[in-house]
Amino acid sequence: MTHAALDPIREAAQFIGERLAAAGLESGNLAIVLGSGLGKFADSVEVRMAFPYGDIPNFPISTVAGHSGRLLLALEPKSGEPFWVMQGRVHYYEGYTPAQVVFPLRVLRLLGVQTMLLTNAAGGIRRDLTAGSFMLLTDHINLMGMNPLIGPNLEELGTRFPDMTDAYDPSLRRRIHEVAAAQDIALADGVYAGLSGPTFETPAEIRMLERLGADAVGMSTVPETIAARHAGMTVAAVSFIANKAAGISEGKLSHEEVFENAKAAEGRFTALMLGAVHKLLENDE
Ligand code: HPA
Repeated sequence: MTHAALDPIREAAQFIGERLAAAGLESGNLAIVLGSGLGKFADSVEVRMAFPYGDIPNFPISTVAGHSGRLLLALEPKSGEPFWVMQGRVHYYEGYTPAQVVFPLRVLRLLGVQTMLLTNAAGGIRRDLTAGSFMLLTDHINLMGMNPLIGPNLEELGTRFPDMTDAYDPSLRRRIHEVAAAQDIALADGVYAGLSGPTFETPAEIRMLERLGADAVGMSTVPETIAARHAGMTVAAVSFIANKAAGISEGKLSHEEVFENAKAAEGRFTALMLGAVHKLLENDE
């Protein structure tokens, strides 16, 4: 059964596909989503084509400061392989429907993307996850109060009841650890709890999350991973720990702090993610 809900996704993919074809460019099979304050990544790659989100039919546009919204077709500097960069994302707390939150990923799927590399800023719950550290997601806990697959199943994309074992692909994780080790960048493993936000958590909520087995907490990534797995893409995700979670840190939390810390670590984070893109493209062939 084809479902009308796929039409806006197809329309966006067709719009992008036509522009690529007109320029003689090939789509990539990997995409990276850049989180809060990590927009500099785009300065380190050769951008072949840039689509402001507002230009793409039906694409949601982010309203958060620090999340400029563009979809880029870029070239990996060493191999010259094309890949996609989502510079900015939309969040559930902005008021978008779950379907809108995962819309860009589904468009990328129709454009041939098979590997999603997600990044986010998160609060560190586990004591070693201090501001400025990095965590590779081994798993997640969905506490967003929604699931983007609720509603009629998009059969063309995937099955009604997707398996979520190894949602974060073990082989991708192993290769990203190799990149981090080669660059001498500490990369912890951990479980990410996804909450809707937009409030930061209360200290009591952080104590609850700790008991539930969460190592870090954030407001994105989980719906994207679910939609990507549904559509048969493999996923890896890296959290930039922007602050210690509420009650673990001494002071209060602010978006400015998250943003400032993200900026301070931007160079290391960019190096790690560029290395990861290079490695994953290399192993793709
Ligand atoms: N909580 C939730 N989301 C976040 C945090 C946090 O402490 N820091 C950055 N994103």
